[in-house]
Amino acid sequence: MTSSMTIAIDGPAASGKGTLGRRIADYYHLAHLDTGLTYRAVAHMLISKGWPLDDAAHAIEAARLVDLGQLDKHALSAHAVADAASKVAVMPEVRRILVDKQRAFAAQPGGAVLDGRDIGTVVCPDAPVKLYVTASAEVRAMRRLRDIEGRGGSADPAEILSDIQRRDERDMGRADSPLKPAADAHLLDTSEMSIEAAFRAARSIIDGVLAERNEA
Ligand code: C5P
Repeated sequence: MTSSMTIAIDGPAASGKGTLGRRIADYYHLAHLDTGLTYRAVAHMLISKGWPLDDAAHAIEAARLVDLGQLDKHALSAHAVADAASKVAVMPEVRRILVDKQRAFAAQPGGAVLDGRDIGTVVCPDAPVKLYVTASAEVRAMRRLRDIEGRGGSADPAEILSDIQRRDERDMGRADSPLKPAADAHLLDTSEMSIEAAFRAARSIIDGVLAERNEA
């Protein structure tokens, strides 16, 4: 792996970008940051202190306290936290603080894989590899349902679908750093793809960029 390899992965909720990001990071021996956890950490702090989700002053304070080394994926996995995260994520000052931390992570020697909503467009616009991972809302809702059932839970499929659609709208419709593919992103529609096939497609894109770099 060439030094300073940054891989930016963006996409909507439940598109599979997180799983793909982890697998790519393992395979290429790169550090990995799921940037969604940083927004979730802010939301979690507001919820646990009983502060309203539109309280910008407290959200900013919470964003400053986010420590990338202390992000507890398990504690931040609740559905309510994800939904709340998309509400605090509309605040420009919260984004600015978290984006600074994410950029510092991306700049580490050896490079990194970051996944989120605005990595290719805002956080790492110069990343040599940008992937935009997507799938239809129905497929994403079905995957989420299987996930919940796989962990012994149950949920209403229609509710999951409307949750996903609501979060898509909020993430794609906000004024600051809306979710959209960077102009130079490779699109990966995984609606009809297994995670294995998506991983193979991503590897072939990354290996192509690496080969070009080595020839240059
Ligand atoms: O990816 P995840 O579902 O954990 O993200 C939770 C929320 O955080 C998203 O719905 C989005 O509003 C916000 N987010 C963001 N920018 C990122 C990552 C996540 O706005 N880079």
